[in-house]
Amino acid sequence: MIKNLKEYKNKKKILIEHNKNYYDKNISKIDDASYDKLKRELLEFENYQKIPIIEKKVSEIIGFEPSKKFSKIKHPETMLSLDNAFDRDDIVDFYKRINNYLNLNSNHREKLFAEPKIDGVSASLKYIDGKLVQGLSRGDGEFGEDITENLKTIEDIPKKLKKLNTGELIVRGEVYIPKSKFKNLSNKFANPRNAASGSLRQKDAKNTEKIPLRFFAYGTIFMNHNLESRQSKFLEFLKHQGFKINPLGKIINDEKDLLENYKILENKRSELDYDIDGIVYKIDDFKLQQRLGNLTNSPRWAIAHKFSAEKGISKIKNIEIQVGRTGALTPVAKINPVNIGGVTVSNATLHNEDEIERKDIRIGDTVVVQRAGDVIPQVVQVDISKRDQNSRKFIFPKKCPCGFDTIKDYNKVTKKFDAVRRCPDKGYECNLITKEKIKHYVSKDAMNIEGLGKKVVENFWDLNLVKLPQDIYKLNFEKISQLEGWGKLSAENLKKSINKTKKISLEKFIYSLGIRHIGQENAKILAKYFQSIKTFKKVIFAKKNIFKELLELDGIGETQINSLKNFFSNNTNKKVFEELIKNLSISDFIIQSKGKFINKTFMFTGGMEKMSRSEAKQIVENEGGKVLGSPSKKLDYLVTGDSKPTVKKINQAKDLGIKILKEKDWYKLINF
Ligand code: IVH
Repeated sequence: MIKNLKEYKNKKKILIEHNKNYYDKNISKIDDASYDKLKRELLEFENYQKIPIIEKKVSEIIGFEPSKKFSKIKHPETMLSLDNAFDRDDIVDFYKRINNYLNLNSNHREKLFAEPKIDGVSASLKYIDGKLVQGLSRGDGEFGEDITENLKTIEDIPKKLKKLNTGELIVRGEVYIPKSKFKNLSNKFANPRNAASGSLRQKDAKNTEKIPLRFFAYGTIFMNHNLESRQSKFLEFLKHQGFKINPLGKIINDEKDLLENYKILENKRSELDYDIDGIVYKIDDFKLQQRLGNLTNSPRWAIAHKFSAEKGISKIKNIEIQVGRTGALTPVAKINPVNIGGVTVSNATLHNEDEIERKDIRIGDTVVVQRAGDVIPQVVQVDISKRDQNSRKFIFPKKCPCGFDTIKDYNKVTKKFDAVRRCPDKGYECNLITKEKIKHYVSKDAMNIEGLGKKVVENFWDLNLVKLPQDIYKLNFEKISQLEGWGKLSAENLKKSINKTKKISLEKFIYSLGIRHIGQENAKILAKYFQSIKTFKKVIFAKKNIFKELLELDGIGETQINSLKNFFSNNTNKKVFEELIKNLSISDFIIQSKGKFINKTFMFTGGMEKMSRSEAKQIVENEGGKVLGSPSKKLDYLVTGDSKPTVKKINQAKDLGIKILKEKDWYKLINF
């Protein structure tokens, strides 16, 4: 039993040393049982003692992380994640989005290919003239780590393709460890996924070779779509080239098919020798995949249908209120730590006060907690039979912990008040919101400042070092190097990563501001519209701001406009904005310089038969052109769809001498 923090730190150092020996140097100076005991002791201590924020917990260490030693290489096309679906409604929405985008009848059900979602780690393989020349990890999606040698040790990965011996081919797939093999591995990892990830990233590929890693190939990139016309056929093609393809893939024709297949696989799940955590549905037709394209983080043409989550039983010790970046008050149950599917869970969300009421959840209750992938664990049910006399109701506070009275938004559509209470802070008056805004500012999809994670933000906040986002640029690294848990090297690294991210794109900067309803997609739309920080600033500081004009942008509606107005009507927000841009070098939105519509502007009126407005707009933009919302002298083409074009717009365009294209002329122009 570990007695104090000092002993914890010493023992953790020893554990890390053992990990290093094992993963990096291929030597083991400790027997498995003693290693397990050491790790268990450390985990136990972490469960019951408060660990300083700066310390990386053993429960957070995945083996030995050697990421810095691999060189980073840009993926030819970003490795995206997948959007998640949890029930039938989500699936129907998926079909709806596709039909809308492709302008298909709402009842249409495009053929999907369903494949098990393997719970491993993804890798991207590059073949030139049939030879494996490079293997990358996913990395941050844009840049992967060069783990070619490690991947080459995997038998399922062909080093030479069986038939194709010309050109370039990218094959993407999942590396995994069979469950049966995982059992025999020494107990250094909580689950097969962590084991696969840790083993793949060992410095010496000889060590990877000893681990029973396997590989299922499941995809490629748009560039290779010329090889086959459909996902199902492409997988056959890969099989003939020597890859292992998951045998449970299936064509899906409609919801009935889809749900049947889901049930079958969910039942089969436990019999399989590899972990799967859902089913991936992909539009089978490559042409349609290409037309649908991608959102920022996920393709429009695929979705992951998750299996129901893993569950655990625990007891609620307390309920605390967490305040999010947008002011939402979320009740969080502090529970006795419980291991759910290899992850120790000690916090679980209770969503909002209505949910607590509906499920009658009380402090002291024994509850069922569920965890699904990367979704926050949640309390799903109370075991009433175990309720004891000491359990007590939680009184949901009407005030934010910062002291402000909370509000509930009124939803004009449902004519109801939101279930979520919010702190009405508009700027940086609520400390809790401010902290979350800073965490958002530095996060991966925003400024992406490595080494300035959530814990460090909390720590710097407590030490009064960072109270507003711009304070990050005033940090004294000499002082930081002397803080507990820091040193010269780590302070120097932080300085470097802050400096490195000072050069940032306009869209990332807008997203970093953390304006409610302005996510990554909307930030991109705004960046495209404003093009430079100078114009953006002009609009914000103009006497009469022109946010209303943004209504013409696809994706921006009243909600977003009101949120922008709200945000920039606050002086602190404006001040923070100004301070940040003083410290940063914000690059203009990159206007494409290639494409057949460079410097050309389009406007659309009326519905078209073969495509939606969104797709038409995407096509113009992909070719470097711009879509305008109203006719003006700047307009080059007015495209009139056959269905109900606006006569007024056509007349205006005629008066201005603008070229008018009929629907069929438009298809001709884009070779559709
Ligand atoms: S297709 C554009 N197919 O799931 C994304 N992914 O959450 C295309 N995964 O990073 C991914 N099995 O590591 C695809 N049959 C499958 C998969 C699969 C597992 C993983 C993959 C990806 C993650 C997305």
